[in-house]
Amino acid sequence: MNPLKGLILSGGKGTRLRPITHTSAKQLVPVANRPVLFYGIEAMASAGIEEIGIIIAPETGDEIREVAGDGSQFGVSITYIVQDEPAGLAHAVLTAEPFLGDSPFVMYLGDNLLQGGIHDLVAAFTASEPDALILLTPVDEPQHFGVAELGEDGRVVALAEKPPEPKTNLALVGVYMFTPGIHDAARAIKPSPRGELEITDAIQYLVDSGKRVEPHVVQGWWKDTGRLADMLEANRLILDTIKTRVDGELVESQVDGRVVVEAGAVLTRATVRGPAIIGAGARLTDCYVGPYSAIGEECVIENAEVEHSILLQGSSVTGLDGRMESSLLGRDVKIGRSDRQPKAYRFMVGDTSEIEIL
Ligand code: TTP
Repeated sequence: MNPLKGLILSGGKGTRLRPITHTSAKQLVPVANRPVLFYGIEAMASAGIEEIGIIIAPETGDEIREVAGDGSQFGVSITYIVQDEPAGLAHAVLTAEPFLGDSPFVMYLGDNLLQGGIHDLVAAFTASEPDALILLTPVDEPQHFGVAELGEDGRVVALAEKPPEPKTNLALVGVYMFTPGIHDAARAIKPSPRGELEITDAIQYLVDSGKRVEPHVVQGWWKDTGRLADMLEANRLILDTIKTRVDGELVESQVDGRVVVEAGAVLTRATVRGPAIIGAGARLTDCYVGPYSAIGEECVIENAEVEHSILLQGSSVTGLDGRMESSLLGRDVKIGRSDRQPKAYRFMVGDTSEIEIL
């Protein structure tokens, strides 16, 4: 068998994470101050995969190239593959065919996080050599997911995308393993009613042509970070695993619980209650940062309280009366208060932004 390759899907539209995705790729939104995409690359590297192809969109691809580079920072080699339009996951596979050639491969959705990596999956695939292996996890509301139905022999017999009446509670997780037969399957299927070449249809095609598609049930948690609430939850799950490290400067400040303060950050009369991470060069003054916050590089928080939030690089929150919580701020966002009269709200926000005054 040819060595296993990796394919990470980092194109797509990202409509559910607007306005962040108007200007940036959703796979680069940080979770515990590191781009979501990095977790997928690392999972592959640690499972011994050396060659990774990353699908990128024409609009956001350059930024991804710049951040992930040639892969040497992860000990892998990265090839970038431009998908002209986000025409579906199976379309992405076809776009990557020249890179994948005859190799079996792991496909990983670039906005997904999988606790415990993909070692188990790769071991199961190598041991039983199926035509495809799909990762499944039990979920509470399977009607919102791609759902698998298993036969008596334990193989996958049917897949349904967001079925109104699901036959099982086993949802497809955004990680798959394929042999090269998936390319013919992706060529054989037609676009779905939403106009995409669906990977579930391609897998169903494999099943219908008598190929062996096996399930693998995930042990740890799995998170798709496509929406704000999921992004915040992924941030919580990862922050729960950090170890305390204070490399920045604390001036009359207090850090409780698991907190990382990166070098160059300065905390003055600040209280940080972990789990939380404070990025390099951040300035926290007369403020409180509560659990499950990830404060990006060069952010400023002054006379304010922030909790359960993600702040991207260069943002500032100053002089707020109430606590800011469950929020995601893009790069260089400024939220502040002035003493001028009359008292009023004043906004300059981009398309599809959401502001809630609670
Ligand atoms: P989705 O989150 O299903 O799609 P999307 O990125 O278009 O987002 P939204 O529904 O909010 O508009 O895609 C899962 C992953 O696969 C994500 O990392 C983007 C990537 N992707 C591609 O690379 N190419 C594609 O054609 C599609 C549909 C998704």
